[in-house]
Amino acid sequence: MSYKLTDQTAQLSINGSIYTLPIIEGTMGDRAIDISNLLQESGYITLDSGYKNTGSCTSTITYLDGNKGILRYRGYEIEELADNCSFVEVAYLLLHDGLPNVSELESFKGLIERFALIHEDMIHFFDHFPSHASPMSILSVMVNSLVNYYPELSDDPMDDIDITSTRLLSKIRTIAAFSYKKSMGHPLVYPRNDLSYCGNFLNMMFDKPVKPYVVRPEVVATLNKLLILHADHEQNCSTSTVRLVGSAGVNLYAAISAGITALWGPLHGGANEAVVDMLETIYADDCNFEKYISKAKDRNDPFRLSGFGHRVYKTYDPRGKIIKKACDEILNVLEVSDPLLDLAYQLEEIVLKDEYFVERNLYPNVDFYSGIIYRAIGIPTNMFTVMFALGRLPGWISQWKEMHGDPATRIGRPRQVYLGEKPRDFIPLEERE
Ligand code: ACO
Repeated sequence: MSYKLTDQTAQLSINGSIYTLPIIEGTMGDRAIDISNLLQESGYITLDSGYKNTGSCTSTITYLDGNKGILRYRGYEIEELADNCSFVEVAYLLLHDGLPNVSELESFKGLIERFALIHEDMIHFFDHFPSHASPMSILSVMVNSLVNYYPELSDDPMDDIDITSTRLLSKIRTIAAFSYKKSMGHPLVYPRNDLSYCGNFLNMMFDKPVKPYVVRPEVVATLNKLLILHADHEQNCSTSTVRLVGSAGVNLYAAISAGITALWGPLHGGANEAVVDMLETIYADDCNFEKYISKAKDRNDPFRLSGFGHRVYKTYDPRGKIIKKACDEILNVLEVSDPLLDLAYQLEEIVLKDEYFVERNLYPNVDFYSGIIYRAIGIPTNMFTVMFALGRLPGWISQWKEMHGDPATRIGRPRQVYLGEKPRDFIPLEERE
């Protein structure tokens, strides 16, 4: 991918030798020092545990400004997309670098509809997981297995990308709903092409022979919004995983499966489940906020307030703001009164005034209120992170596609500083003490 080289350079002085490093500039003025030749020229690597200040690629997909709380997909404000688009439109935007017109959207939807079923043989897989299996592990395994049933059609994965990406977008929804039905011991509900993307998913989840599910437009609208808000977030942990794994040349399904696994972690997408668990614990403990806030502040206690803090946002997560409002609205429409929502409001109010959290810029993130919405629409807690994966999928695919189309891409292979033993003499087994 070509980028703008500025006429500025950075000078690095090491023991009297000066190294001149190019500075590149992104569209929004973000600047980076290009250190890719530093090792060759100086013998030094850079060390940045957790990649706190390391750019791994250039990208045209998502822009975020963590200080101002700005998030844009392909240049469009997240607020506008969340208010005006369907998730499928946003998936198209991410994958194709532009919003679809009516006929483009229709043919994109047509592909999604065409691929909605999964091979019947795959349905037997669900029978062999224990009933308590995590839906995230099932999702990762099933997505990884798709390549065996739907192998890539040509040697160049980019040739089939429209087919593979719509196939994945469609089937992940069916897999997620089937895994829930299997875990409940209920009969599977097959996809119906007369329903929208989100309506179809809700119907596959909740329709029962004894009680047909009524797809409510307000619930569909809320789910669309949630999925849009999760659709991409530049080089986060799971997306970087998709890129890293993909850079080794594996198929798209395997790379996405790895992303699902990364997302599972409670510091990442698993936080939406952890938030509800945490709120339930606080509720059951007589709403003893102080106890849990003190635990979160205690350096010797691993406990953290789930749903607070973000690597990039040092202000309120713009997605969190939209979700908080959506949460309030949908609970009103559904006439659901959830004590966890009141608890969440109170916790947020206390935290935002607490010096520890203020000093560290710890604000609610995307996961703080999303779980309360999922609860209200009937999604069980252990499926929350699966919902995140459904939303993030178009972002993962777009990033994978971008990486494959970028001639600058090389296999991802970080360096290290070795701190182990110096060379030592080998001792045969019988002589070891
Ligand atoms: N509760 C209490 N303290 C926190 C929290 C929290 N939720 N988050 C950060 N801190 C503290 C850290 O202890 C650290 O304090 P110190 O400077 O005294 O050592 C400081 O704030 C900076 O935290 P780091 O861990 O260095 O920040 P990092 O960018 O590495 O971590 C993360 C970001 C993982 C999101 C962190 O804020 C966290 O664990 N949050 C809770 C889990 C969560 O909600 N994850 C979802 C994130 S959004 C997403 O991935 C979809």
